[in-house]
Amino acid sequence: MRVFVTGASGWIGSAVVSELLKSGHHVLGLARSDTAAAAVATLGADVHRGSLDDLDSLRAGTAASDGVVHLGYNHDFSRIQQAAQTDLQAINAIGAILEGTDRPLVIASGVLGLAPGRIATERDVPDPSLHPRIASAQAALSLATRGVRSSIVRFAPTVHGPGDHGFMATLAGIARDKGISGYIDDGTSRWPAVHRLDAGNLVGRAVDDAPAGTVLHAVAEDGVPTRAIAEAIGRGLNVPVVSVPAEQASDHFGWLARFFGTDSRASNELTRELMGWEPTHPTLIADLQEGHYFESSSR
Ligand SMILES: NC(=O)c1ccc[n+]([C@@H]2O[C@H](COP(=O)([O-])OP(=O)(O)OC[C@H]3O[C@@H](n4cnc5c(N)ncnc54)[C@H](OP(=O)(O)O)[C@@H]3O)[C@@H](O)[C@H]2O)c1
Repeated sequence: MRVFVTGASGWIGSAVVSELLKSGHHVLGLARSDTAAAAVATLGADVHRGSLDDLDSLRAGTAASDGVVHLGYNHDFSRIQQAAQTDLQAINAIGAILEGTDRPLVIASGVLGLAPGRIATERDVPDPSLHPRIASAQAALSLATRGVRSSIVRFAPTVHGPGDHGFMATLAGIARDKGISGYIDDGTSRWPAVHRLDAGNLVGRAVDDAPAGTVLHAVAEDGVPTRAIAEAIGRGLNVPVVSVPAEQASDHFGWLARFFGTDSRASNELTRELMGWEPTHPTLIADLQEGHYFESSSR
């Protein structure tokens, strides 16, 4: 297949591109800048210049391909509504080209906050008020009834590994700056986790085999206690590990407090069963113990 990948230059996207190429597919990677184009080309993919805001570029990339993986996203937390709107428009534009073709469309979603107080499964349907982006997942799944082999991959809130610039790298940066590694209250809040390479492998499997309308969980560990995360960071940076009271969490963790304080577990049982997917890469704590999060240039 020739697969059009948005977000091909990104953290997960670059792993997905490598995975697809390894499986013998050709990849057309969306790039909005020379830097992104160079990154996509270095991976061995063809470059498609365009942007998520340029719907014609998305239509053209889709029309030139046998399937689409949509991972591009604007993660500016000050523009949540606008980013979700851009995402929905992108999915609708891609979907309109794919309608009636039975070609695959795989899009990204998340598991954080999906089922408060219990373990979320692939069968859980998120409350649309949780996040404006949920409309994107609904739009993608509704394409399954219109001749698109659409599926969504809900990623764990930490997709970790060497080179990570997401939540884990931010937590390590805060601990480095403050000289203490914090967890909120008793640190029993849990976060699901997945290694980037396991996540990329699952997306590749979804392109090949996911039936129309499938929801998958890119989750290797259903919930790692935030205290264990703080302890691993403390060991890595050789700084004390402390409890931060919930009312001071925003002062200490900034925008991350809201996420780090959320107890959220998610299972992968149905995903493993359906896709024959078995995570093989290091767990979150093992990855933190490898030390790459604590090199002075990592942030
Ligand atoms: N990483 C996680 O832990 C995690 C967890 C849950 C869900 N997800 C979701 O998984 C997907 C991939 O995440 P990621 O961690 O790989 O993100 P990332 O590293 O931030 O990459 C984002 C990608 O989107 C591209 N992009 C952003 N705005 C664009 C625009 N206007 N036009 C074209 N391309 C644009 C970026 O291109 P440039 O290279 O040009 O910036 C980059 O390739 C996202 O949808 C994300 O929300 C990730």
